[in-house]
Amino acid sequence: MERSPRVVILADARAVARELARRVGETLRAKPDLVLGLPTGRTPLLLYQELVELYRRGEADFSRAITFNLDEFLGVSPGHPGSYRSFMRRFLFDHVNADPSRTNFLDGAAADPQEECERYEHEIDRAGGIDLQILGIGTNGHIGFNEPAAELEARTHRVRLKPETRRSNAALFGGDAETVPAEALSMGMGTILQARAAVLIATGRSKALCVERLVNGPITTLLPASFLQLHRNADIYLDEEAASALGGTR
Ligand code: PGA
Repeated sequence: MERSPRVVILADARAVARELARRVGETLRAKPDLVLGLPTGRTPLLLYQELVELYRRGEADFSRAITFNLDEFLGVSPGHPGSYRSFMRRFLFDHVNADPSRTNFLDGAAADPQEECERYEHEIDRAGGIDLQILGIGTNGHIGFNEPAAELEARTHRVRLKPETRRSNAALFGGDAETVPAEALSMGMGTILQARAAVLIATGRSKALCVERLVNGPITTLLPASFLQLHRNADIYLDEEAASALGGTR
């Protein structure tokens, strides 16, 4: 049986974004009401640029797509400029024909975070589950905000962010890691792994070591992305830098 995840190495970050945007466009044409799981972070910015380009060229129609973002900061209202909802509007949704009633987010300011997590799981179920889950990877191996830990949660849950994760999100909160919320809400590992297809994108040398462990290492809660090895339809798209520690071991 083919190894999972399948590894696709492309020349650079732009090529990774183009390849995945092409796949999203093609998948949308085959299934206009596609249920897409979407990440935030620096890595998907080029992907979102490419999707906007596809839309402008008439090659991607988002009008019937349903989207679910992976995670959101706790205590941050949807309209806050640092929220992931604002991020998605800024970089994708304001520039394509996505239907706001079909774009789903966790509400970081919900009065009862636990209830909010349950609502999200229910909405994903009601949509029929996620068809294509796009993922980034933290330098510590997290996917969504499932941080390395002795145990991982299966379902959408409240999570305490690691210092490195807060540092990498500082730009959204005026450059100071201390102002990044200490907690977040995130899809769980089961929510992510139950997507019918998953694509993780990683670019740049800072991701090379965790990518190598994700591909060749054991499955461990200390590297949540390693659970993608259990998925039957997972790909990772890498640029040459992110693939640089793979050597000849694949
Ligand atoms: P990055 O974040 O794309 O900003 O490196 C990835 C992630 O934390 O999932």
